[in-house]
Amino acid sequence: MNKPLTLAAILLAGLSLTAHAATAAPAKDPIQARKHVFKEYKKSFGAMGDMVKGKTAWNKDEFAKYAANMETLSSQPWQYFPAGSDKGKTEARAEIWTKPAEFKKQADSHQAKIAELAKVAATATTLADVKPAFGAAGQTCKACHDQFKKD
Ligand code: HEC
Repeated sequence: MNKPLTLAAILLAGLSLTAHAATAAPAKDPIQARKHVFKEYKKSFGAMGDMVKGKTAWNKDEFAKYAANMETLSSQPWQYFPAGSDKGKTEARAEIWTKPAEFKKQADSHQAKIAELAKVAATATTLADVKPAFGAAGQTCKACHDQFKKD
């Protein structure tokens, strides 16, 4: 009898924290907000991927600009996963909320790899310079999607 009560208390504490955060942030639907950030991800990361794949011409300044933009974006989606936002038009898996430490680990590792990519891109001259860091960053998208996103 004790265990469920404790869990309920933890969940309630989490909910009230979320409510506080919601008053501080602009009143937006969190599902829409995170999808919006991920759409911006797709624009920048997709354009970088096109250069890496040779679909578009390598341009080191453009690549560095996209990488810097990714670095800014990479801190943004995670605030938009409050408890309860697993309901609605979302591909987010319930595991985000049942395994929050795992989710945070993936998000942190992702941010670290994106930061590395931005650093490499800032001084890169050739496509070969950025390929490994781009690949490593891309792996963090896939790793998180495999575990936490429905497809
Ligand atoms: C730590 C986890 C995590 C990482 C890292 C991550 N994503 Fe996602 N991504 C998600 C989740 C969860 C969703 C589903 C969001 C929803 O539907 O509410 C998503 C959704 C998306 C979407 C769909 C947005 C839409 O229109 O509905 C795109 C595109 C996307 N991610 C691109 C990327 C790219 C590119 C990267 C890497 C540069 C990346 N993501 C890294 C968790 C992650």
